[in-house]
Amino acid sequence: MDNPAFELKGVYFSYLGKFPALRGVDMHIEQGKKITVIGANGSGKSTLLHMLDGLIFPDKGVFKAFGREFKENDFNDEEFSGNFRKKVGLVFQNPDAQLFCPTVKEDILFGPLHLGVQKKEIEKRLEEVLGILEIKDLLDRSPHQLSVGEKRKVAIASSLMINPDVLILDEPTAGLDPLTTRRIIDLLIQANEAGKTIITSTHDLHIVEEISDIVYVFSQEKKIVKSGQPDVILEDTALLQANNLVHIHSHGHKGKTHIHPHLHIEHHPEH
Ligand SMILES: Nc1ncnc2c1ncn2[C@@H]1O[C@H](COP(=O)(O)OP(=O)(O)OP(=O)(O)O)[C@@H](O)[C@H]1O
Ligand SMILES: [Mg+2]
Repeated sequence: MDNPAFELKGVYFSYLGKFPALRGVDMHIEQGKKITVIGANGSGKSTLLHMLDGLIFPDKGVFKAFGREFKENDFNDEEFSGNFRKKVGLVFQNPDAQLFCPTVKEDILFGPLHLGVQKKEIEKRLEEVLGILEIKDLLDRSPHQLSVGEKRKVAIASSLMINPDVLILDEPTAGLDPLTTRRIIDLLIQANEAGKTIITSTHDLHIVEEISDIVYVFSQEKKIVKSGQPDVILEDTALLQANNLVHIHSHGHKGKTHIHPHLHIEHHPEH
């Protein structure tokens, strides 16, 4: 039962030693779970996800992945680093940080080729990923000449091609149209049902329920203020409001002005 993907104990991190981004974070993420991280802009979500992907390391505190404590030097060992990269994949919040090849096709194939995946397997994955994300027409284009949503789809495709056990996604549906959003959510649910750990940060509260066993709420103090099952978190209007996840909505209706918290989620349990 106790089979953690990641454990963090009292983790602190600041950029350049002077811009605090994580201030005392404790987490225990079991393999095979769906985890969501929500919180205001600048609350530390992306920083956390970068740490889970082994891109940065705590200034203070303990970070363990798959039961082993991680130190920066571990990644100097090519075998260790290669194994970790096969196991854990991150879709960056900003696709430009991820896409660097002259064509979309080269970008999508880079990961699996670099990690030594068999050609036949690569072809199989490619066919599947192109179908789900509908990006076949983009293959010969330059990734830098795509729309924001197209870039995001290509970035997601590149990570899916590695087929990692743990898939980390930083705001994967930001800027995507509703149909594409739906496809991404279905894909994440399917991947989780097939045994993968899915860790997503998002501002889209309406997708949280489906992609979470546990939700972590980050505060502007750059630490976790609450964690729990999605229904409990999403019902806590005061918590959501205090963390910029809902806003007070004022609108005119039949000559009267109504002011109420605006949740950005449709709750119609009676339908
Ligand atoms: N490269 C960087 N250099 C210096 N400070 C940074 C850097 N990246 C992030 N920070 C700071 O670290 C803190 C946490 O940022 P982070 O990007 O993790 O927040 P976030 O919750 O992902 O925000 P958003 O919702 O806007 O994506 C912020 O105060 C931010 O200003
Ligand atoms: Mg972010």
